[in-house]
Amino acid sequence: MFDNPIAFSYISNTMTIKNKNLKPIGVFDSGIGGLTVVRALMQRLPHENLIYFGDTARVPYGPKSPQVVREYAAQDTDFLVKHDVKLIVVACNTVSSVALEIVQKHSKVPVVGVIVPGAKAAVVATKKKSIGVIGTIGTINSKAYTNALKQLDPSIVVISQPCPLFVPLAEEGWIDHKATEIIAREYLFPLRLQKIDTLVLGCTHYPILGKNIRSVFDDNITLIDSGDATAAEVEIILNEQNLCNPSGMKANIQFYVSDIPYRFAEVGERFLGQKLGRVRRADGFF
Ligand code: DGL
Repeated sequence: MFDNPIAFSYISNTMTIKNKNLKPIGVFDSGIGGLTVVRALMQRLPHENLIYFGDTARVPYGPKSPQVVREYAAQDTDFLVKHDVKLIVVACNTVSSVALEIVQKHSKVPVVGVIVPGAKAAVVATKKKSIGVIGTIGTINSKAYTNALKQLDPSIVVISQPCPLFVPLAEEGWIDHKATEIIAREYLFPLRLQKIDTLVLGCTHYPILGKNIRSVFDDNITLIDSGDATAAEVEIILNEQNLCNPSGMKANIQFYVSDIPYRFAEVGERFLGQKLGRVRRADGFF
């Protein structure tokens, strides 16, 4: 292998920063929903070690004030920093909307939120320059997606709609359920009337209800999963900053929560798309 100069320079490079590369990526969310982002990361970066923190004791963040969300986000970040992560992914759309600077202040490592990657993917996808955004009340009130989209292309028309009932419906697993169909129509029909061609799923839970959401629109709608877009952004940053894990070993994925609620494993499996394994209660919360 050392006969190959490219391989050699790569190896010598990674030796000097070996430990850094092997460190986990930290991911946090208000609760269980961020597992959709973990799923996207595991698919795109199968060799990266991950440590996930879900603030299940204080979920939901969506209806809470920005001040409270910022306070929680700072504590969540401190937990990941203590675990010596090499990069932090803010999986929660509500935190990414109102508290990204707090996360950046509390850590020295790169921080990736879900808003800008989701907005970028939507701008690439739209043909009619008419984009819908759905999320929690906190995310929609913050106008974070609208601002990010307008910054990327001021001519884009953005129509936003909070869909708070989608969170419990996704956790209940009510996917092929009449109640979800009715609620989805109620929330989304105004967006359909506005003839959007792209819809940003601006909440960790919404990809679970993708089928219900899509059924309100015609076949030409593009759904943007911010988690997928974020995983792609993380890959770019790891490459740019020479932070990839080159070990090729099976990744170590650790799950921590501030409370272990009933049915956590069952609901978590639906969000992650596979069994979670061990879930630990995080020290220092309650
Ligand atoms: N994880 C949150 C988000 O993506 C949804 C759940 C909550 O309200 O905390 O905004």
